[in-house]
Amino acid sequence: MRRKKRGGLWWHFVSLVFVIILSFLLLMAILAYLYIRLGNETIQHRNPFPPILTIVLFSLVIGTTITVTVGRKILSPIADLIKAAKEVSTGNFDIHLNESHRVGEISDVAHHFNLMVQELRSIETLRNDFVVNVSHEFKTPIAAIEGYATLLQEDNLSKEEHDEYTGMIIDSARQLSTLSGNILKISKLENQELLTEQTEYRLDEQLRQALLLLESAWAPKQLNLNIDLDELQYYGNEELIMQVWLNLLGNAIKFTPEGGEISVSLRPGDPWIRVVISDTGIGMTPQVRKHIFEKFYQGDPARSSEGNGLGLPLVSRIISLSGGTIVVNSEPGQGSTFTIMLPAGSE
Ligand SMILES: Nc1ncnc2c1ncn2[C@@H]1O[C@H](COP(=O)(O)OP(=O)(O)OP(=O)(O)O)[C@@H](O)[C@H]1O
Ligand SMILES: [Mg+2]
Repeated sequence: MRRKKRGGLWWHFVSLVFVIILSFLLLMAILAYLYIRLGNETIQHRNPFPPILTIVLFSLVIGTTITVTVGRKILSPIADLIKAAKEVSTGNFDIHLNESHRVGEISDVAHHFNLMVQELRSIETLRNDFVVNVSHEFKTPIAAIEGYATLLQEDNLSKEEHDEYTGMIIDSARQLSTLSGNILKISKLENQELLTEQTEYRLDEQLRQALLLLESAWAPKQLNLNIDLDELQYYGNEELIMQVWLNLLGNAIKFTPEGGEISVSLRPGDPWIRVVISDTGIGMTPQVRKHIFEKFYQGDPARSSEGNGLGLPLVSRIISLSGGTIVVNSEPGQGSTFTIMLPAGSE
């Protein structure tokens, strides 16, 4: 909707000052007239109008000239701000206002305006990156499905070849299904501010159940499990917290070579319940550690086909919705430790 264009700010300012000067001068003129008429005997007989009128006109001209020139200078940051805001409204975020101004409030406005534009710019970049990442992650399994389906069309395939190709198609379809499921989950959680569907349940039992569900992943690798769980009643969203354990334990298993060890401990406490999940796996460099909670980030290119880098962003969102925190300690080759603090008695 186009707003009705009113007079410019500068004209409003000049007219306002003009009216103020005029009213002030008229008042002065009336006072001067009264003073001359009623007061001083010696000047009583002179005509008071010409000198008063001359002074009024003279002051008016000088006052207006000063207002016009000074007004332009004073109002220029506001004019710049309006121009910049117009640019931002058309989607141009490469704008920066000069923040050094003598008037504190004007510097403040410029500073906060710049912060706002910076924030908008990073949201725009994130949105673009997200679209690029999603397309990239979808491309690989779709290309695999296409490739193996084409191979299946060939005549005279052996039973083994047929099974291999259909197996690859099923795997890729599963990957796509997990990917789209995770994208939906993460976007739903990002738009959610409060945790819903909370119930009371045994947190230690849930951790054991998560390990059992992952048995097909840890058993073939002959990983040693070191489980030390105190009995604990917890109030929270059971389904979402299960996602946390499955992702963290899934990572620990994935990034730990055969014969390694995974430890899980649960300690009650007030105000924090503490869960520690550690492994003796490949660990992370500080550079990798810095990015692991970003969507689609995968630190190990050799394992990038196993997953999409959405596990930890989901974990961190669920934990923050639950009012908790997650901290990671890790060194390359020394394994990783994830410490999760959940609020006790968040009923
Ligand atoms: N226990 C761990 N040991 C070593 N590196 C880890 C561990 N957990 C996470 N990482 C690093 O953090 C990255 C991000 O983890 P995240 O769980 O988000 O993604 P992913 O496991 O690669 O894929 P997805 O979870 O979508 O299957 C991993 O790619 C890996 O580089
Ligand atoms: Mg993961």
